[in-house]
Amino acid sequence: MAIISSCTASTLKDAATSLRSGNLVAFPTETVYGLGVDATNKDAVAHLYQVKGRPSDHPLIVHISSMANLDKWAREIPEYAIKLARAFWPGPMTLILPRTILAKDFITGNQDSVGIRVPSHPLASALLAEFEKLGGLGVAAPSANRFGKVSPTSTEDVKIELDRYLGAKDLILDGGMCQVGLESTIIDCRFQNPKILRPGAITREMIEEICSIKLETNQESELVRVSGLLESHYAPKAKVFLTGNPSMGDGLIALSNFETPIGVIRLASPVDSFQYAQVLYRALRLADQKNIENVFVVPPTGGGISIAINDRLHKAAFNT
Ligand code: TXA
Ligand code: MG
Repeated sequence: MAIISSCTASTLKDAATSLRSGNLVAFPTETVYGLGVDATNKDAVAHLYQVKGRPSDHPLIVHISSMANLDKWAREIPEYAIKLARAFWPGPMTLILPRTILAKDFITGNQDSVGIRVPSHPLASALLAEFEKLGGLGVAAPSANRFGKVSPTSTEDVKIELDRYLGAKDLILDGGMCQVGLESTIIDCRFQNPKILRPGAITREMIEEICSIKLETNQESELVRVSGLLESHYAPKAKVFLTGNPSMGDGLIALSNFETPIGVIRLASPVDSFQYAQVLYRALRLADQKNIENVFVVPPTGGGISIAINDRLHKAAFNT
């Protein structure tokens, strides 16, 4: 596995060629790093599932370079989905739509729908454009972590996560730290109204404004509530506590105006909720690197991206 730290037109072309040959390429997006593979190559996708250690019925998001390619993968696209795509692509949003025959069972986990996203990170856009020039139709990319673990937001974190599992021909493209820091908002667009399946940087308010509708009552807070019933996700080795007080040797993640008690290890001090989202996964990883057993988190309050932060925190705290 090689890390490409200064991506140029020529290295991006090589990376796209490598993808077309069935290899894996980890690449930065504005949300988190993805582990990319040619979405039409069954063997390569099978290899990806192996590297991730992910159950094969778990669907993948297909990444395309622009909205123009949407109807290759999806059909029966409602008017509101077009509006959302126009407003928020390229960007941190995934649309779930009925699939075309291009989206095979090995991408959709046997579902009749497919998840599509146009990322905005310049390296992701350039890689996808090169890939499409070579005849590629879409890059399937889950977050570049082992199944159930915290998504990586830097090249270093991808390396720590997947070094042992990637092969000699696989690549990691270095695009620095991800800007958003949390995975894309996933919106189910198969019914009369959009439904948020995973909250993210594209918030309920933003969706409501673009679609000129009011979404059903508090979809995301429902998610937050039931998340304790779901399998653990986004979890570090450390135990994550959302209530209670840290003691000597425990880790702490909180907004910068929250003081660190004596003997407690501060893992992040974001100044606002956007920065909170950006540094959260790095801070959870840092806890594991420092062998900290207990991490106390003071979640941000309010709406907007805080909803997504709370969703991930509740999942990270599942086992505690
Ligand atoms: O920000 C992101 O979305 C990142 C970057 C790399 O693009 N990707 C990402 O992929 O988070 P992944 O595989 O870690 O999470 C994708 C989620 C999964 O929970 C999966 O169940 C859901 O998307 N998903 C994908 N296709 C779906 C479908 N057809 N129906 C329902 N959920 C779907
Ligand atoms: Mg993931």
